[in-house]
Amino acid sequence: MTGLINSRISNEVLHNHASLNPQMFYGWNINHISRTSAGLKVLGWALPLDGLVDNTFLYCNGVRAEMQFETDTVVEEMFPTWPNAGAASFRASWPQLSGTRAEGLLVFDIRAADGGMLPIKHRMMFDFSDEGLIVVPDADLISHIGATPPQMFIQTGRTLAMQFDAALRAVHGKGFESQTAVLEWGCGPARVLQHIKHLYGDAMSTIAGIDVDSVAIDWCKSRVPGVEFKTCELNPPVDYPDASFDVIYAYSVLTHLRKRDAERWIEEIHRILRPGGHFIFTTLGVSSLPWLHPSGESSIETALRMNGIYDGAKNTDIDSVISDQDYYRNTWVSDRYVQSIWGEGFDIMLSEVCFHHYQDVWVFRKR
Ligand SMILES: C[S@@+](CC[C@H](N)C(=O)[O-])C[C@H]1O[C@@H](n2cnc3c(N)ncnc32)[C@H](O)[C@@H]1O
Repeated sequence: MTGLINSRISNEVLHNHASLNPQMFYGWNINHISRTSAGLKVLGWALPLDGLVDNTFLYCNGVRAEMQFETDTVVEEMFPTWPNAGAASFRASWPQLSGTRAEGLLVFDIRAADGGMLPIKHRMMFDFSDEGLIVVPDADLISHIGATPPQMFIQTGRTLAMQFDAALRAVHGKGFESQTAVLEWGCGPARVLQHIKHLYGDAMSTIAGIDVDSVAIDWCKSRVPGVEFKTCELNPPVDYPDASFDVIYAYSVLTHLRKRDAERWIEEIHRILRPGGHFIFTTLGVSSLPWLHPSGESSIETALRMNGIYDGAKNTDIDSVISDQDYYRNTWVSDRYVQSIWGEGFDIMLSEVCFHHYQDVWVFRKR
């Protein structure tokens, strides 16, 4: 089974993505989760393994779902060469997994009919335990951070907070709970920061969030107590003294900046981080390309080979709140560029592809 999957990916999808490790790729997504006394239900899509819908199963915490597949032209258009991609939409249910929201982490995997684990990196985790504590903005404000469905705002935020904590712990031996001053750069409507505060913030003296989006920051100021929020300019400096923070993290911010802006911001982050402090951030690298451009996108790959960065794609998500309509992009980087240019003045402690969906993670430590 494993061999077949890999060879089909190699032949039909990866021909435009020579640098991609096929072990990292399998296309599926979760769009909605509901938990009631009648059980757990999930809506999403998964490219049928070998093109066979009866060979593709979603598991939650090791328990196989009852699956129903439906026609969905959107997925077919995304993956035109994938056999039976038009049947990728599914409804998965686990009548036996009923109950409360406080049961902790839900780990989802896609597996073949024989239950064998696939050689895929992309696996999703959701945690419902503090759902009642998190404030969720309206759909308009959520759209400033991309297309996250409102229900996923809470679960994705919690998952990311736990994943960032695990990344920090992996390089430092200690997680967020033992940090004194933490900043989220590009916090938006505090999707992740609210969880960092609830899960790990008890002993922190400063928990801060900054963003260029003044609408998001104003919403945070009025709805999220106990966190210091500031609107920042499109370019540095920010209003913090040198060496202010132990940890600065950023989910999907450097994935949106032009080369010169990103480089200026990394210098600024270096300035406000204390020596020995950690900068944790995500990037779009080559592993993301089959997800976002399944039919290939050679201009991105050429730019990555030649310049290490591709910042040519406009993104309109925050056009309504920024003055420079040319500022916000979709940006890809090569590992070598991140290491040699952004890594100046830092030790590179960790990098992991497809850390969250198709974004890679990096942990830098300031020298
Ligand atoms: C894709 S969203 C992610 C938001 C948040 N990190 C999350 O995961 O929910 C990117 C965010 O970066 C913000 N942003 C873009 N450029 C920025 C900059 N130079 N400084 C601070 N924030 C920035 C945007 O306004 C937006 O809120």
